This record gives sequence, C-alpha cells and structure tokens, in this order.
Amino acid sequence: MARLSVNVDHVATVRQARLSTEPDPVTAAALAELAGADGITVHLREDRRHIQDRDLHLLRKTIKTRLNLELSAAEEMLAIALEVRPDMVTLVPEKRQELTTEGGLDVITRMGPLAGFVATLKEAGIRVNLFVDPSPEAIKACRKIDPDGVEIHTGRYADALNDAIREAELKRISDCAVLSRRLGLKTHAGHGLGYGNIKPVAAIKEIEEFAIGFSIIARSVYTGIEEAVREMKRLIAQVRST
Ligand code: PXP
Repeated sequence: MARLSVNVDHVATVRQARLSTEPDPVTAAALAELAGADGITVHLREDRRHIQDRDLHLLRKTIKTRLNLELSAAEEMLAIALEVRPDMVTLVPEKRQELTTEGGLDVITRMGPLAGFVATLKEAGIRVNLFVDPSPEAIKACRKIDPDGVEIHTGRYADALNDAIREAELKRISDCAVLSRRLGLKTHAGHGLGYGNIKPVAAIKEIEEFAIGFSIIARSVYTGIEEAVREMKRLIAQVRST
C-alpha cells in the first residue's frame, strides 16, 4: 500500500499563533505514528513561521518511522540538514509572502545549483526528492539533476474549479508518475490532498508515498489526530492494496 507521511507543520502554526508551548508538533508526530503514519514531514521555513529548530531536533530524536524535511535550496538550510540528518530531504521553492508552497521547483533554469545541493545531500547519505509540477519537462530535468526521486505537486488538481479541469490535472499527475518511475525515480505526491480528493490520486499505482498535512491537522481538531490519520489511511487502502 502507498505510504502516508503526515505533515505536522500546522500543529506548530497553532502554537506559534500564541507563541506558546502547546500544541506540540513532536507530540502530534508520536500520536500520528501510533495511528499508522508511515512517516512524518516538516517544513523548516526560512522565516520559521511554524516549525522551529527545536521541533526538528526533537523530532529527529523521537520519531520511529521516517523524517522527511522540506527545505528551500539555501545554504543555511543545507547546513541544518547536514547536522540533523533527516531520512529524507524534499527540496521546495519558498517565497516569504506565500501562504503555502505555491508551485514546484524551477528545475529547468536552476538545474546547476540544484544538482550541487542534491549531490551534497546524497554524499552525506540523505535521500533527496525534488518537489515539481506535473510536467514531463520537469520530470526529465530531474533525471539530469539526479535526486533519488520526485514529489509531484498535486495543488492544481486539489484546487480545480470543475470536473473537467480536475480530470485533466489528474491525467497530468498520472502521466508524470508513470514517466518518473520509468526514469528510475522514486515517486511521491502531495499538496492540497484531503479526505474528499485523495482516492483518484491514491489509485495511481506508480505513486509510492503521499505527504499530507493541512487536511489531517484540520480534521484532528474535531476527531483527534489518531482518528484523522487512521481515516486517511483507510481511504488510501480502499483503492490501493499494493
Ligand atoms: N508536500 C510539499 C512539498 C509541501 O510543501 C506541502 C505543504 O507544506 C505538502 C506536501 C502538504 O500539503 P498540505 O498541507 O496541503 O497537505
């Protein structure tokens, strides 16, 4: 079955709203793991708007599954990754003004610098994925940059205004997942996925892992994070036995 990595950034968003110590993303991560999460994802943003360095260090020590660290390709972030040694880094674009990561990496014009970043992380024994839009050109550029894999951006599928656009976006994701696996890249997907739209994407058998945050943390306000994680796992399992 496809794996689910639970992004706990927005537990920290609530804590930072009051600059408090609760709720703690480290506790949330432990509960998510107990409920069956296959991994934990956090995005340490340059502006530290939600996850703090303290969270990252504690998560590294406490999580029992796999820690996926989302980072911008900046020197400060590279140094942190090399120190903390997550199981995986997902390189993402980052803009100060955005509410959340808006698009995939510009893997075509930034091929050189990204290749340097990827090589340094891989030499340190850290797996690296590149977060890219569902475009064949981007996937092919990734092959040249030589990460371990890609995470396909599902945001346009999630935000589609009608069924025709949603179907077209789903096909782009599916075609890119097939291409990416054919090129030997590990294939993950994420952004904007929730209880109402996960099934068609989860049915794409080339996708090995989903990174899902906002919808699970929002649901957990009502049901608790364990039930929220279990429900997402159930929906994925309904369409994916392998
Ligand atoms: N994958 C990446 C690369 C992201 O940047 C994010 C958002 O932090 C996610 C997945 C999770 O997106 P969402 O919170 O919309 O589920």
